[in-house]
Amino acid sequence: MAKDKFKILVIHGPNLDRLGKREKNVYGEMTLEELNAEIAAVAGKLGVNVETFQSNKEGELVAKINTAGEAFDFLVVNPGAYTHVSYAIHDAIRAADLPAIEVHLSNVGAREPFRRVSVVAPACIGSIAGFGAFSYLMALEMAMSMLEADTDSEAAGRE
Ligand code: DQA
Repeated sequence: MAKDKFKILVIHGPNLDRLGKREKNVYGEMTLEELNAEIAAVAGKLGVNVETFQSNKEGELVAKINTAGEAFDFLVVNPGAYTHVSYAIHDAIRAADLPAIEVHLSNVGAREPFRRVSVVAPACIGSIAGFGAFSYLMALEMAMSMLEADTDSEAAGRE
């Protein structure tokens, strides 16, 4: 089946619009525009449709996830600092009934104690953290592998 039927939503949470300016020692020099360009390039190579969305507002992130269930096949989400506190984003991912991968540019497990807790993680299939832009790119590859494997098993009449 054609790969380009899949649609992946990539969400960037609060302060990620400040990439390239904020804490460069932690998040690097790359701007959000450059990150989105890398995401688009990998999406092109994988033959998948990817939409990116950034907001600094929890309610807007929730609203976007709420509508994503019908429009997308997979969610890649960096909830920023909401990772550590937002049960609303956790609930929205579960309610959308979309497979999701949580991503982080930095290695949250090796930073301040509050960053070691993710309340979003239990709503996701898995997490990729600490690889800068590659965290997103690996998540896209993983999402595609999972979507294609699913299609293959459907085509073969397996569950
Ligand atoms: C982040 C990690 C969060 O703890 C932080 O609040 C961010 C960015 C990351 O991508 O490394 O805003 O999600």
